[in-house]
Amino acid sequence: MSTVIDRIGLLVTNDPEVGPGTAELRNAAVLIDDGVIRWIGEADRAPHADERVDARGRCVIPGFVDSHSHLMFAGDRADEFEYRMAGRPYTAGGIRRTVALTRDASDAALRANAVTLLNEMRRQGSTTVEIKSGYGLTVDDEARALRLASELTSETTYLGAHVVPVQFAADPGAYVDLVTGPMLDAAAPHARWIDVFCETGAFDVDQARAILLAGQAKGLGARMHSGQLGESGGAQLAVELGAAAVDHCTFLSDADVDALGASSTVATLLPGVEFSTRQPYPDARRLLAAGATVALATDCNPGSSFTSSMAFCIAVAVRDMGMTPAEGLWAATAGGAAALRRTDVGVVRVGAKADLVLLEAPSYVHLAYRPGVPLVSRVFAS
Ligand code: NIG
Ligand code: FE
Repeated sequence: MSTVIDRIGLLVTNDPEVGPGTAELRNAAVLIDDGVIRWIGEADRAPHADERVDARGRCVIPGFVDSHSHLMFAGDRADEFEYRMAGRPYTAGGIRRTVALTRDASDAALRANAVTLLNEMRRQGSTTVEIKSGYGLTVDDEARALRLASELTSETTYLGAHVVPVQFAADPGAYVDLVTGPMLDAAAPHARWIDVFCETGAFDVDQARAILLAGQAKGLGARMHSGQLGESGGAQLAVELGAAAVDHCTFLSDADVDALGASSTVATLLPGVEFSTRQPYPDARRLLAAGATVALATDCNPGSSFTSSMAFCIAVAVRDMGMTPAEGLWAATAGGAAALRRTDVGVVRVGAKADLVLLEAPSYVHLAYRPGVPLVSRVFAS
């Protein structure tokens, strides 16, 4: 069935052929059919379609591309959040609590939790969502998480190297051997990407290199968690290996920033993490000034950032990380697409996927200007 969205007051295209950055059009219309954008033009010239949606001068944006989430888990850690708000720091050790709960959960329970969160994301305008494993940390539990995740998205990421499980505390090298050997073999058929948490307390740069190289040798694309708790050198490793993205980037050396600025590795910032852990926010301006491509993502997980809202991430990035509203929106759409090396999403152009969000507002500026307000009026998802 074809649909024309007519009388769009402000259309964000992100199409470099239209203009730089958000590449906006005024008084526009879009025709979609069979999940694909077929026509874009002036409102007065909109072609006929089976359904006509009157945008009444409101703003239409590309669906959000949330390039970083951990939806395959059981339980929550609200108690840790309460303790942090009372002054305790975030530690990566909490991951092991979720690992224990996730291993005990049935397939049906894990699937239901992920579907609930994915629907929550969709209602808030996220039309492409990446999902990681990383709360299984055994061969069978990691493979199971990825098998279930692949029912929900094509953007699945193997994160067996999330943290060293307690059983391997005395011999982390043996765990790296497992992650790069039998666990990778079991995970790879269900994964597009491989990820590693390169941070003090998780995996160091040499371990991270071995893990990502093993994944690349199996045909997986590389991505990385790094710079959440301190400088670890992970960003330069991500660039060296041609990773699609390095995520967190809160603590970066000048050399890290220069390397990102000179590369196609996307720096993905996760404002929900700093909000929920009371850490300092990353400096988006420093990265943008160096020429880096910046994305925003939720990092939705029960420990460090239990938000599913990309609009919230934009609001925080604008308020506290030095981004303009246009840069924040671009990072949450085209930036996320770049972080997943996708050209068919995060953009409104003929031939792209028909993933669009009609806002209950005349402009995307309202996403930051009216924080916490549900401004998504309708989601068109291919
Ligand atoms: O991206 N930093 C590592 N992993 C997650 C946190 C996971 C957790 O605390 O459960 C993150 O923030
Ligand atoms: Fe994460």
